[in-house]
Amino acid sequence: MKYTLQSSTLALLVSVCLGSSLAFVPAASNTNPFGVKNTQLDMAEELKLDTDFDNVEIVRLLGLRRMQKFVKKRQSIAKAIAAKEAAAKIEPPPAAVVISAQKPGLKLIIAGAPASGKGTQCEIIKKEYGVVHLSTGDMLRAAVAEGTEVGKQAKAFMDAGKLVPDEVIIGVVADRLDQKDCKESGWLLDGFPRTPGQADALASAGVSADCFIFLNVPDEILVDRVIGRRTDPITGKIYHMTFSPPNDDDILARLEQRSDDTEEKVKVRLEQFHANVEAVKGSYNEIGVEIDGTAAPDEVSKAVAAAISSRVSA
Ligand code: AP5
Repeated sequence: MKYTLQSSTLALLVSVCLGSSLAFVPAASNTNPFGVKNTQLDMAEELKLDTDFDNVEIVRLLGLRRMQKFVKKRQSIAKAIAAKEAAAKIEPPPAAVVISAQKPGLKLIIAGAPASGKGTQCEIIKKEYGVVHLSTGDMLRAAVAEGTEVGKQAKAFMDAGKLVPDEVIIGVVADRLDQKDCKESGWLLDGFPRTPGQADALASAGVSADCFIFLNVPDEILVDRVIGRRTDPITGKIYHMTFSPPNDDDILARLEQRSDDTEEKVKVRLEQFHANVEAVKGSYNEIGVEIDGTAAPDEVSKAVAAAISSRVSA
C-alpha cells in the first residue's frame, strides 16, 4: 500500500520522525532500496527537495502502524480546524434583525409634546424595524392638501393649533391599521392616541401595542425646536435651522415651514398636549417607556432601541 501525502505534511512528518525512525534505514550504504540516500542529513535534504516524493515509499521508511497513527492524527486535527472555522463564520445578526425575528410585525406607539422629536425618531425606527410609519399629523396634512372630507373637517382645527375631534381622526387610523401592509409588517403610530378617547377607541377595537415610547422634553426647549423646524417637501426629511441645517444649498432653498410652527400656535398646541398627556400615558402603564428627549438625536435613538428591545423581550 502507498500513502500519498502533501509535501508540507511529509516535511513535517520527516522532521518529527527522523530522529527516532532512522533505525529503519541502513546507515552504511550510499543509497537504499527506497531511493533515499543513507546519511541522516542527506536523507532530510533529499526529502525536502523531492516535493513529488516519487521515489519515496514512506510506509516502508516509517512503518505501516506509525503511518496509520500519524495519518489518523492529521485527519482529526484537520477536522477540528474545519469545525472551528465553520463556527467562526456564524456571526450573530444585528439587534434589529433579532427583534424582527422574535416578533414579526412589531406594533409601536411614539408619543410626546409638539416638536419633542417623534418624527425625527420615526425616520430611524421605520428603517431599523421595517414597520409602517403612521403619522396622524402627516395623514391630516395630506388630507387637507387633497381637499378630502376629512381634510375639510380638520383644517380649521389644525390652523388654530387645536386637536382635531376624535370622531374625525379615529376612523382614519382604524381604516389604516386594517390595511395589509400594517398587518404584515407591523406599525408605528406617531401622534396617536393623543386623547383618552382615542386610547379607548384603540382598546375597544382590540388593537394593542408592544411598546409605548414617550419622549420627555421641557416646554422651553420645545418652542425653539418648533420655530426652527423646516421640512424638505421632496424627501420629507426634517431639519432645524440651528441644530441640524442641511449642507446642500438646493435643499436649503426648497425647505418649507409648517403653518402651525409659530410661537403663538405652539402655545395652544402645548396646552392641548398637557391637558391630555397623563390620561394617555396612564392607558399604557404596562408597556410604557419614558425617554429623555433632550439628548442629541443619536443618543435618543439608542435609548429608543434599548426600550424596544426591553419591551419585546419582556
Ligand atoms: P403633528 O404633526 O403630529 O404635530 P406634533 O405632535 O405637534 O408633533 P410635531 O410634528 O410638531 O413634532 P415631532 O415630535 O414630530 O418633532 P420633530 O421630529 O419634527 O400634528 C399636527 C396637528 O395635527 C396637531 O396640532 C393637530 O391639530 C393634528 N393632529 C395630529 N394628530 C392628531 C390626533 N391624534 N388627534 C387630534 N389631532 C391631531 O422635531 C421637531 C424639531 O426639533 C425639528 O426641527 C428637529 O430637527 C428637531 N429635533 C428633533 N429631535 C431633536 C433632538 N433630539 N435634539 C435637537 N433637535 C431635535
